[in-house]
Amino acid sequence: MANASAETYNDRVVRQFAVMSLVWGIVGMAVGVFIAAQLIWPALNFDIPWLSYGRLRPLHTNAVIFAFGGSVLFATSYWVVQRTCHVRLFGGPLAEFTFWGWQLVILLAAITLPLGITQGKEYAELEWFIDLLIAVVWVAYAIVFFGTLATRRVPHIYVANWFYAAFIITIALLHIVNNIAIPVSLTKSYQVWSGAVDAMVQWWYGHNAVGFFLTAGFLGLMYYFVPKQVGRPIYSYRLSIVHFWALIAVYMWAGPHHLQYTALPDWAQSLGMVFSLILIAPSWGGAINGIMTLSGAWHKLRTDPIVKFMIVGLSFYMMSTFEGPMMSIKTVNALSHYTDWTIGHVHSGALGWVAMISLGGLYVLYPRLFGTPGMYSTRLIEWHFWVHTIGVLLYAASMWIAGVMQGLMWRATNPDGTLTYSFIESLVATYPYYLLRLLGGILVVAGMGIMAYNVWQTWLARAPERMRHAIPAPAYA
Ligand code: HEM
Ligand code: HEM
Repeated sequence: MANASAETYNDRVVRQFAVMSLVWGIVGMAVGVFIAAQLIWPALNFDIPWLSYGRLRPLHTNAVIFAFGGSVLFATSYWVVQRTCHVRLFGGPLAEFTFWGWQLVILLAAITLPLGITQGKEYAELEWFIDLLIAVVWVAYAIVFFGTLATRRVPHIYVANWFYAAFIITIALLHIVNNIAIPVSLTKSYQVWSGAVDAMVQWWYGHNAVGFFLTAGFLGLMYYFVPKQVGRPIYSYRLSIVHFWALIAVYMWAGPHHLQYTALPDWAQSLGMVFSLILIAPSWGGAINGIMTLSGAWHKLRTDPIVKFMIVGLSFYMMSTFEGPMMSIKTVNALSHYTDWTIGHVHSGALGWVAMISLGGLYVLYPRLFGTPGMYSTRLIEWHFWVHTIGVLLYAASMWIAGVMQGLMWRATNPDGTLTYSFIESLVATYPYYLLRLLGGILVVAGMGIMAYNVWQTWLARAPERMRHAIPAPAYA
């Protein structure tokens, strides 16, 4: 007993990532609000190149996905792998290295993207020298995570770790293959891929970034934090295993749905469509597994705002994984592609699923990391929940309506075959929806402000002596 309590988990690095998740969440979403405003008032670029939409848009996507989402995944995976393996993080200072390395990547992104230094590949904009740094940090991450698994003191590997493991391995593979380039200077490189092959590799990467960064990693989070907060075991362990294998087997093939009606061979486009449709099954299986964990404890949905975040997040996950397969059907994609429908889909997944499950997980973590009995104010979490939910609904609904309207206006023809509407007419018709989206975005950022205040107050009440958690003695020792 005395021996076991002397050894503690490495929660310092979890705390660092958890705090930076909040910081990058606010920054990334605030940039989102700014570019949403630029789409209404283009003069907001003030004729300054580094404030132009084309440079700030990738800053937004990189900040929310890799800085916010990435920090959440580092924090929660480090927390979960230690708790479920009953062992301290492997590799000593290596975990700390991943924290500072990842922050350096984010800093370099925040400098180079506004300067217009980019590879021009969506979600893979960062230039070669930053890509190399990412690869080094990621290898260190893999050593820490898999080393911890290998030195575990419980025989079983809990399913959350399977999802985190798949996320770590796949992102390494995608990142390396999609970024193979020949540098010609510090800030410029040329891809080895070209033409249709480049497009295929890029969207194999892009879609699996959605599948493994924005989905598998957060499913790992879900499989640990939902049962934890609800206080019940996961609904079906068997379903979680089927869910895991089905999801990772199918996701890999769906990428070509981003390239319907392009120079990609037609059979590849159809293959992408078919695999996207199959993808509904594992996606819904996982979501149902999470939601049904509440069975017998449904009252928590009324009383616990953290559970609300998680269950509404899972509902958005179901919605976007139904919508995505529909959009991959060629005839539907003929309407939706290039329109704001895609943007609505993206944010019902990103703000609905990714952000809500992350915020739920973070609210569980902060009190444990700060050694307090709970968050400073449950009522403020409740406020955050409602402000965020209304914001996401405004965002997604306005973009859905705008998107379908744009698609219909672009394809409308007169009896003589000429176009009924000019492009500018469709743009003018979109403005009211852009205003609604902006309002939704402002609400979401306001919610993050409420969270920041709540976290700050919780931090002020921290109890350093309770911030060190002893590792339980091995059950079978
Ligand atoms: C306050 C919250 C947010 C606002 C106001 C916002 C706003 C925007 C805007 C205006 C765009 C550009 C749309 C266009 O080019 O037409 C965009 C793109 C994007 N955002 Fe957000 N965003 C927010 C949060 C997030 C979050 C949390 C994520 C991910 C976790 C995210 C992921 C993305 C992605 C992936 C794109 C690119 C979509 C595409 O290329 O199809 N956003 N966002
Ligand atoms: C079964 C699951 C899903 C399928 C089959 C699917 C399918 C699709 C399709 C067909 C598109 C439009 C491609 C185009 O016309 O250019 C798309 C775009 C997108 N989806 Fe999904 N989706 C799924 C789930 C999700 C989820 C859960 C998220 C976010 C967490 C997400 C994020 C995105 C993003 C970021 C884009 C925009 C990519 C770009 O053009 O930049 N998707 N998806």
